[in-house]
Amino acid sequence: MHILREIVDKIYQNINIVEVVNDYVNLQKSGKDYKACCPFHNERTPSFFVSPAKGIFKCFGCGKGGDAVTFVMEIEGVSYGEALRQLAKKYKIEIPESTNFSTTSDEIQKQNEIDALYIALNFAKNFYQEQLLYTDEGKAIGLSYLKERGFNELTIQTFELGYSASDWDTFYRTAIRKGYNAEILEKAGLIQKKEGKNEYYDRFRERIMFPIHNVSGKVIAFGARTLKKDKDTPKYLNSPETPLYHKSKVLYGLFQAKKSILQKDECLLVEGYADVISLHQAGITNVVASSGTSLTQEQVRLIRRFTSNVVILYDGDEAGLNAAMRGVDIILEEGLSLKVVWLPKDEDPDSFVQKYGTNATLTYIQEKAQDFIKFKTEFLLKNAQNDPFKRGEAIREVVSSIVKIPDVIRRNLFFKECSQIFGIEEEILIREGNKILSKELKQKTSTETEIFTEILPSNLQNTDSTEPSSANFSNSYFQEREIIRLLLCYADYPVEKDEVFGQYLWKELQGLHFENSIFQEIFEIFIRNLFEGKILSYHDFLQIENHEIRQTVVDLVAEKYTLSDKWFEKGGVRVPTKDEKLHKVAYEAIMHMKWKVIQRMIQENQKHLKDASTDEEQNHFLQIHAELKNIEREIASLLGNIVR
Ligand code: GTP
Ligand code: MN
Repeated sequence: MHILREIVDKIYQNINIVEVVNDYVNLQKSGKDYKACCPFHNERTPSFFVSPAKGIFKCFGCGKGGDAVTFVMEIEGVSYGEALRQLAKKYKIEIPESTNFSTTSDEIQKQNEIDALYIALNFAKNFYQEQLLYTDEGKAIGLSYLKERGFNELTIQTFELGYSASDWDTFYRTAIRKGYNAEILEKAGLIQKKEGKNEYYDRFRERIMFPIHNVSGKVIAFGARTLKKDKDTPKYLNSPETPLYHKSKVLYGLFQAKKSILQKDECLLVEGYADVISLHQAGITNVVASSGTSLTQEQVRLIRRFTSNVVILYDGDEAGLNAAMRGVDIILEEGLSLKVVWLPKDEDPDSFVQKYGTNATLTYIQEKAQDFIKFKTEFLLKNAQNDPFKRGEAIREVVSSIVKIPDVIRRNLFFKECSQIFGIEEEILIREGNKILSKELKQKTSTETEIFTEILPSNLQNTDSTEPSSANFSNSYFQEREIIRLLLCYADYPVEKDEVFGQYLWKELQGLHFENSIFQEIFEIFIRNLFEGKILSYHDFLQIENHEIRQTVVDLVAEKYTLSDKWFEKGGVRVPTKDEKLHKVAYEAIMHMKWKVIQRMIQENQKHLKDASTDEEQNHFLQIHAELKNIEREIASLLGNIVR
């Protein structure tokens, strides 16, 4: 569904970027702006800035930037439309729905299906909640079970727990009666077709329903726990993979935990739904569950959006310990710091917190949390005892974890620590690490460069998208960049009689082409609007769907913090902070650009000259050459006057 233009405008008018970002990040005032540690990458010193005057954020560490809408999109992992919806909700702006005729019917159909799935799942969630709270069966079986387990009403509300009745089709019949489409219900994983018939039955029956939310709180799936004790019934039944639900990309409880994870800068990781819920009820809210499977890269990256510190709470039993230890290497690979807490025998986080209470649990976690690698080292060493073969195995195991750490400094710290624990020289461990790396390299049979980026610290892998790579670098890049930057910042500044700066630029640049395609595109969009009597500012460009344009615009507008600051320091002021400088700076950039263009034209003309076969042709190109040279001289003298 499309949001009306005027509503979009209204949302933008109401947005205060500081308020929006502050919901997720702890902003500190810094002059006119605000700063914080970037929520999108690991850092200790803040390089994430928010400018309320410009309405933008920009991280000078990882390069991410944009306006409030982009911020919500990035941090929530949602689409443009969904981000607008969330902001509308925050600012209490109502969105009347309308159909968008400009998108293709394919897109509409796809979007409609997605919307329909969300609506069906939300209906199911409400239905199961009502079943739990208001039906005899629900109260007698479901609610009493949850109460017995110690879950209070607020908790049941917070996690939107429900109950599915024991009949085969209670949900199906109700949904159809309310006008839901069977195909959509099936696609949402709520009902199943009877074999060989065009009839359906409920997927979830006689189970406690745990809605699984996406990061922004919409229900995308269910986990359903049986209340039966017999061994033949699987304890949990989950939704199948659907267009909305990809198991490997979801963490249970993240929606309820994300704020707390940001505030505490730490994420507790447990195994079960019940563990998340019990800890949350006890006020330990920065907790998510992997839902019994080993972590995926997507899940780890989801966590990394909010913190770089993970603490895993392991159940007391040692079964599957080795498997668990291998499973978490992915956390190290993504550059997060990882600690483990071992719970006493026969306890899981749920039983522990219910038995001992909040304070004892927090103290236990704090006291027992052990760095993962150190824990692994000691554990394996203990297992190996005096068996030299097992010892060698253990060393290789540990080293294989250490080499996964992307940060060189941290990696070396671990080599040092392990060398002490094992009582072997650091050099030997590092050599062992190199052996493992080169073996993996051969196994992957991938190119050298791929391996190199893999072991590089992740912050070095992020190249600034608007910076030219050395390959396509050309002098004109910076001139073009400067012109576009001025255009974005000062388009509506009056420069002459009835003229604003944007018009002046257009007149000066007529017939010229930017070499950089993004700059050219920005310029063309500007000119198109200028013809329609509209002078675009960078705010308008930040609403454009094209991600590359938005990113470029934000980088240019945010530039104040990088280039100009340094220039100011050195006294080489090149940025027009005052109106009167604008003309001069723009003029210089334009002249430089024209100079480059003339050079190109001269070169091209010379090629023609060489290829010319007749005298007549030759004369023609010679004449052009003379004219171009004249212009070149003219520009040179003008440039000389400016540069002095
Ligand atoms: P309680 O037994 O009620 O305390 O549940 P729990 O959430 O603590 O579950 P448990 O520790 O037994 O298992 C951890 C997680 O593994 C669960 O939350 C589920 O996500 C998953 N899981 C457990 N059993 C099954 C199963 O039979 N099928 C599937 N698909 N997942 C399961
Ligand atoms: Mn449990």
